[in-house]
Amino acid sequence: MKKGLSNSLTNYGDREFALFLRRSFARSMGQSEKLLDAPIVGIAATASGFNNCHRTMPELVEAVSRGVVAEGGMPRVFPTISLGEVFLNPTSMKFRNLMAMDTEEMIRAQPMDAVVLIGGCDKTVPAQLMGALSADLPAVQLVTGPMSTGRHKGERLGACTDCRRFWGRFRGGEIDAAEIETVEGRLAQTAGTCAVMGTASSMACIAETLGIALPGSAAIPAVSSERLVAAELSGRTAMALVKNPIRPSQIITEKSVENALRVLMAIGGSTNAIIHLTAIAGRAGIKVAYDRLNQISDETPVVLDLKPVGEGYMEDFHAAGGVEAVLRELKPLLHLDTLCVDGRTMGERLAGEADWVDRRVIHEFDNPVTVNGGLIALRGSLAPDGAIFKRAAATESLFEHEGRAVVFEGLEDLAARIDDPALDVTADDILVLKNAGPKGAAMPEAGYLPIPRKLAQQGVKDMVRISDARMSGTAFGTVVLHVAPEAAIGGALAAVRNGDRIRLSVKDKSIDLLVDADEIARRLTKHQPPPAPSRGYASLYQATVNQAPQGCDFDFLTSR
Ligand code: FES
Repeated sequence: MKKGLSNSLTNYGDREFALFLRRSFARSMGQSEKLLDAPIVGIAATASGFNNCHRTMPELVEAVSRGVVAEGGMPRVFPTISLGEVFLNPTSMKFRNLMAMDTEEMIRAQPMDAVVLIGGCDKTVPAQLMGALSADLPAVQLVTGPMSTGRHKGERLGACTDCRRFWGRFRGGEIDAAEIETVEGRLAQTAGTCAVMGTASSMACIAETLGIALPGSAAIPAVSSERLVAAELSGRTAMALVKNPIRPSQIITEKSVENALRVLMAIGGSTNAIIHLTAIAGRAGIKVAYDRLNQISDETPVVLDLKPVGEGYMEDFHAAGGVEAVLRELKPLLHLDTLCVDGRTMGERLAGEADWVDRRVIHEFDNPVTVNGGLIALRGSLAPDGAIFKRAAATESLFEHEGRAVVFEGLEDLAARIDDPALDVTADDILVLKNAGPKGAAMPEAGYLPIPRKLAQQGVKDMVRISDARMSGTAFGTVVLHVAPEAAIGGALAAVRNGDRIRLSVKDKSIDLLVDADEIARRLTKHQPPPAPSRGYASLYQATVNQAPQGCDFDFLTSR
């Protein structure tokens, strides 16, 4: 039942006075008496001059508001912090939980009957879903949508798989400074999130699969009129939820999380999405176990041909049929009794046949892009609690590889030495980066270690790389990530030394440091944790952040 302005009253010890005062102050914003009695839909808006991916926020807010008003409600826009991926130091990951806390507390503290969350850039949608699930007020997720592609010398360009491809060509001396400057202006030509199946797109597809975003809304380009229609419908849907509440905890369940994990495999989605989905699920007390992840990955083919795994861009995905077409391919494997914000079950969403699907982009289950899912978890003496590997974006000839470790002790060491002509490294070696995990460095996207310049110039395009860091969802290569426990807390990664042998086996889903267990233990007795920050958010972060297999949420925010 709607309560509007009388929700979450300010504590003065006199509820009537609190409501009287609130109504009076609401009038100062020019609201008529009639609207003061209307149900309220909060709109979590995340515009920022430091977030290009949210450039369309004003028109999305307007369209959501229109939908709310059309259904007799009162839209109230409120800000939360915004996280623009490339504008944050040391990494946006450090602030995801802060945004989640901001979102949760502002939903809970302010008077609203339902909320529409508008996000898009990598960490914003996870943060909003984590916060909304903990607040558990009826909620609809709306994403800002992907960028459209630019053009360069006859080929399409999209952030940011092509950013990395061209940067690699520049580092290897294939293109000059003038051309890379031209490309810089053509990679990100419209508003919206990265144009490929990176983290933002993966999280949009996950939100749609979970049922917390409207069916068909994940892949609509940011600049399309269809996105404004989806925004208006999101506002209308929030009003429907005021009348017939379905809470996030009814939508984000063990079954819908499993559906989302399966879709993540089928779309060749981002490694980061595993961390985020784990953190979201953790707010409901649901665990994403690596063994189950591997089982789902082995059962689920990649059916979507998009960069960084394949060829297309998000604009192609939308035109080809979007998430719903992928869900139809996976239907026999999905839980069909999960709920969507529009009141339908997954089974009802997928009843009937699709109009048309572009099979160049969305393959049939029996004719997939690759027969196995895009992501797997590895375990072994180097990662006793697991690591993540994106096999769909890796070089198959390196799947079974043993090599000599070339170790970088941290991010500064990496930056200082990776291009040193004297670096003792060959293409068969394994690059190892330590101390870039959650507690060590807030887990930046540094796991995609650059190929040492001298090897890049010889034409080396890929090497096995291992770290406790993350990797951008738009990146590709034979990269082992999220090694747990991380080096900073004395995980086995901390024990690796230059020249040690390491073995990667995708077949066995293993990653092993080929050093005697006693010797690893002996080396770790000398391990020193990094100094703790003395104050502020950095101190809270380092003291309470969980490891990657727990989603890097703060320990006091997960469900207990
Ligand atoms: Fe925002 Fe890529 S930088 S989604």
